[in-house]
Amino acid sequence: MGSRLGILGSGSGTNMAAIVEACRSGTVPANPVLVLSDVENASILQLATQQGIENRYIPPGPYKTKLSEESEQSFIHALQAANVDWVVLAGFMRIIKSGFLRAFPERIVNIHPSLLPSFPGLNAASQAIAHGVQVTGTTVHLVDQGIDSGAIVAQAPVNVEAGDTPETLHDRIKQVEHRLYPQAIAALVSGNIKIEGRRIVRQ
Ligand code: GRF
Repeated sequence: MGSRLGILGSGSGTNMAAIVEACRSGTVPANPVLVLSDVENASILQLATQQGIENRYIPPGPYKTKLSEESEQSFIHALQAANVDWVVLAGFMRIIKSGFLRAFPERIVNIHPSLLPSFPGLNAASQAIAHGVQVTGTTVHLVDQGIDSGAIVAQAPVNVEAGDTPETLHDRIKQVEHRLYPQAIAALVSGNIKIEGRRIVRQ
């Protein structure tokens, strides 16, 4: 059945759903086994239930942007207990710290709605509009200690249209993400690409 995926998200879960569909249709040679969220009523958990995937809310602790030590351990243990090979962040709004990275070395992947290294962090679509760029897009990258700073796995462009609001732009970016993220995961789990330093090497 291929690699086992654990998917983490805090929000609507549309990327998670696209990845699950791609796995089920055979486009991605992987098995999504567990969905975890730091938000109790997040749609991503309801979507996972509808898709028949084990899912769980894990309380994040008292901080806004990171997990407490205890919470981080709970996330790691849940993923390890499910024998996850890859951790897929899909709208997970917490910083991943070194303990988490050490538990899954080079095996945590994220998608960010801009062409990195432009516009890392929050509100990437607003940042793009405020800067006046004509092209933005989305980036799949490995997760490292920084914010949206890990090695780039895949990117795709999206034009900024006159009259775009952060919401309309982000919606169009998400349409592209739903194709790009499954493709990137397929390439990673099948070993078709390897990351050496910051560079992708096609096998
Ligand atoms: C995506 O745009 C992703 O790039 C960003 O958060 C959003 C998550 O959307 N990290 P969804 O929960 O997959 O619908």
